[in-house]
Amino acid sequence: MPEKNLTFDVDAVLAHVTEKTRIVFVANPNNPTGSYIPAVELARLRAGLREDILLVIDCAYAEFVTRNDYDMGFDLVDAGENTVVTRTFSKIYALAALRIGWAYCPASVADVLNRLRGPFNLSTAAQAAGKAAVEDAAHVAAARDHNSVWLPWLSDRLSDCGLTVYPSAANFVLVRFPDDDTHNSAAAMTFFESKGIIPRETGGYGLPDCLRVTIGREDEMRAFADAAKEFMAG
Ligand SMILES: Cc1ncc(COP(=O)(O)O)c(C=O)c1O
Repeated sequence: MPEKNLTFDVDAVLAHVTEKTRIVFVANPNNPTGSYIPAVELARLRAGLREDILLVIDCAYAEFVTRNDYDMGFDLVDAGENTVVTRTFSKIYALAALRIGWAYCPASVADVLNRLRGPFNLSTAAQAAGKAAVEDAAHVAAARDHNSVWLPWLSDRLSDCGLTVYPSAANFVLVRFPDDDTHNSAAAMTFFESKGIIPRETGGYGLPDCLRVTIGREDEMRAFADAAKEFMAG
């Protein structure tokens, strides 16, 4: 569904529902834009969908969000039989290679997932790592706090050198590059790579003039900000 200002558009989605619609997915916050819809919009989406349409809310980046009007939607799950919230250990826990995730969903949905999944879909090692990760609340708090400092810091530095930075509620920023041969996203990618920095290209998401930059360590953020400044001054 086309977005509005790179943000999930509840009205557009509701307008495109047909009798064939069975599932609506929303990534909140979204990747690679970093945008999100607030709790009231999520509730309006659920209220506007038929009862027999499953709403799947992908909250992969939920732990990073610090906005007061954000909500994952657990209340929407509790309120009926047709809403699912999915979570992952791939983001704030940095355990992507272990392939662990979970869902908060009605028992009827869990029953379907249990019948569809492979018999040994989660290894014992992955389960042990997931359990340890959930218990490590200090790690989550430290990672969120780190992101809360360096996300706005990097966004400001990049804006200062003339780049368009989209507001992000996640742990990355989407950056739009100018439309000229020396400063476009392809030139930027080549320049950053020459410095050992590898942003994420977003052409596959329909955003060929942008790159996505993940918030990393302080030294990495300083190195990226310096490189962006040098690139834009060139
Ligand atoms: C919005 C969103 N959901 C889910 C995932 C993937 O999660 P997992 O590693 O648990 O499959 C990603 C990873 O890029 C993502 O951006």
